[in-house]
Amino acid sequence: MHQSVLITGASSGIGEACAVHLAHKGFRVYAAARRLEKLKDLEGLAGGRITPIALDITAPDTIEAAMKKIADDGVTLFGLVNNAGVSVMGPIEKTPIDEWRRQYETNVFGIVRMVQAALPQMREAGRGRIVNIGSVAGRIAAPFQGAYASSKHAVEGLTDSLRRETAPFGVKVSLVRPGFINTPFGEQEQDQLQKYVDEGGAYADAVRKFKHWHAKGHPTAPGPIVVAEAVHAALTDEHPHSRYTAPISNVGSLVMRNLLPSAVTDRVMARVFGLDAAGKTHKQNP
Ligand SMILES: NC(=O)c1ccc[n+]([C@@H]2O[C@H](COP(=O)([O-])OP(=O)(O)OC[C@H]3O[C@@H](n4cnc5c(N)ncnc54)[C@H](OP(=O)(O)O)[C@@H]3O)[C@@H](O)[C@H]2O)c1
Repeated sequence: MHQSVLITGASSGIGEACAVHLAHKGFRVYAAARRLEKLKDLEGLAGGRITPIALDITAPDTIEAAMKKIADDGVTLFGLVNNAGVSVMGPIEKTPIDEWRRQYETNVFGIVRMVQAALPQMREAGRGRIVNIGSVAGRIAAPFQGAYASSKHAVEGLTDSLRRETAPFGVKVSLVRPGFINTPFGEQEQDQLQKYVDEGGAYADAVRKFKHWHAKGHPTAPGPIVVAEAVHAALTDEHPHSRYTAPISNVGSLVMRNLLPSAVTDRVMARVFGLDAAGKTHKQNP
């Protein structure tokens, strides 16, 4: 009997890699996203163990329908991988409140909705795993990433509370923190940053410099399989870690973030992103 896992955001990038990897490892996978047509490509892979399922984590009726379909299949979920996410980029002062809402509706409240839908059956079964996909940005908040980084900081806290609440019921919870990963995620972040360059104003020069640094991140990064392997470990380790970082090379910056005073990290970031120069330029040419 294969253990069943539901993965959100499986139509692209990390979620798609998780679906294929976990199915190859023997899981029965419910691969969920809004774009059902993209999910259809996964059908038939890995011995037919992937079932596409239409689901929008911001729309409760679609979550209910997905859970009903899984129950109708006679399946009790062993795992839930909360991977679906979006990124809203730009200066905090300029980012419209509706964009902030979109960020939190997906990255934070979406996870809460999915947990509320899937946890009861795991709790009743006395076993289960929940894996939330956070980000290195959930600990290290770069400028012009305020909405995204703060949503992933929320995922860190949410995951810690959840892990402590569900442990007595045999449901284990882990956070997987990717660093830069080569997926389509970065392209839409670049587009959003460009908008703030184009509109000019006080932040335009600094955003342009940050965008230039950010542009190199995703294309040169490892592929999503490194995250899929960490998710597999979180689902199968006898004693899963509270946190997995993928790729492992990001652990160094997370440790430094904990050790260094903020004043030092601020100066390092300003230097790396070229923002010390951006500030001076702006003061000279207001
Ligand atoms: N790539 C990176 O460098 C990186 C780094 C750190 C963390 N992460 C995190 O990893 C996760 C996956 O990112 P990725 O790089 O794989 O991005 P991606 O390629 O853009 O994929 C995002 C996925 O989320 C789904 N999604 C978005 N909104 C949704 C909604 N309302 N309901 C259901 N599905 C939704 C999309 O599917 P549909 O549009 O079909 O619904 C898509 O499958 C995110 O949580 C992201 O924050 C990524």
